[in-house]
Amino acid sequence: MKLTRKELTELIKTKLNKAGLTEDHAEGVADVLVHADARGVHSHGAMRVEYYAERIAKGGINTSPVFKFEKTGPASAIYDGDNGVGHVVADLAMDEAIKMAKETGIAIVGVRRISHSGALSYFVEKAANENLIGISLCQSDPMVVPYGGAEPYYGTNPIAFAAPGNGDDKILFDMATTVQAWGKILHARSKNEPISDTWAVDGNGEPTTDPFAVNALLPIAGPKGYGLMMMVDVLSGILLGLPFGNKVSSMYEDLTEHRNLGQLHIVINPEYFTGLTNFKQSITNTMTDLNNIKPAPGFDQVSYPGQRSAAREKENEKNGIDIVDDVYNYLISDVIHNDAYDNKGAFAK
Ligand code: NAI
Repeated sequence: MKLTRKELTELIKTKLNKAGLTEDHAEGVADVLVHADARGVHSHGAMRVEYYAERIAKGGINTSPVFKFEKTGPASAIYDGDNGVGHVVADLAMDEAIKMAKETGIAIVGVRRISHSGALSYFVEKAANENLIGISLCQSDPMVVPYGGAEPYYGTNPIAFAAPGNGDDKILFDMATTVQAWGKILHARSKNEPISDTWAVDGNGEPTTDPFAVNALLPIAGPKGYGLMMMVDVLSGILLGLPFGNKVSSMYEDLTEHRNLGQLHIVINPEYFTGLTNFKQSITNTMTDLNNIKPAPGFDQVSYPGQRSAAREKENEKNGIDIVDDVYNYLISDVIHNDAYDNKGAFAK
């Protein structure tokens, strides 16, 4: 099913509003989800609405949060989300970080006590659109083995980075620190297909090709990805005085509980370093350089991070955003949720 940005936004907003979010907050979530779907990152788009609706309806997201923004130093601040919906809190915190970085050259804003905030590219892109560099990191529920371990400790702890070039040019990099998302394992299960032995481990910590034997995901690049996910947890959890490591709350264990997650935005103003004009020109040059690198066999062209998603977004703006039928049918139905996610543990079916 192809939908325009406006149609999809409206459907998501209406559903989340019916689940209990205010119209404002429902629209804030819809914007982040539609951004992901438009860029082809469907794992963090409208398919998440039913889970959010269930958590909202069961009280696991505060629908009337009292936000608190506190500057703790010239370039540092904490935005407390009171366990309101993560997308909205992270967005408001990024707005504050942008304002601060324009004045002080750099801003580090810790976002405390939020629920899942979706695709981090949304927040860092806002910084790049304001001629700033945006970095964002966040915690996620423990489902990844630390290198050499046989049980999960860290989450898929994503890292996003955006930098502006000339005109509309922009680098927009955004990744989980795991080889594959849990959704890919579910997809293999549904098709009864084996998975690569680089994705996940079984209960003994042995790499497995059987999607049904998966007990935890693997970090990217072994000990290096493990180090990165630890860094994300330190900066977005420990630094903000929040639960960390395997104490981070599970997405699906108890949907009546607030999640108390953390996120960290770092915004850097190039004007205070090499100067904005020079910085933007160099980013544009980097993008061109990368595109002109001789491609390896099997590749048409080297893309810079975010290039393919940006092209998809442009195309979808013209032709509509593709939404799978199940998700569309749920969005247009009268159902708020199907009680499908609660009490499933980290490895929900
Ligand atoms: P991915 O693997 O699809 O892409 C990762 C990065 O690689 C992107 O920046 C993409 O532009 C770049 N890329 C992909 N193919 C490329 C190519 N051929 N050439 C150049 N660059 C290329 O992303 P992943 O790891 O599956 O993450 C998806 C989303 O999940 C992200 O938006 C992330 O923020 C979100 N996420 C959110 C979490 C949360 O708790 N809020 C937890 C984990 C992930």
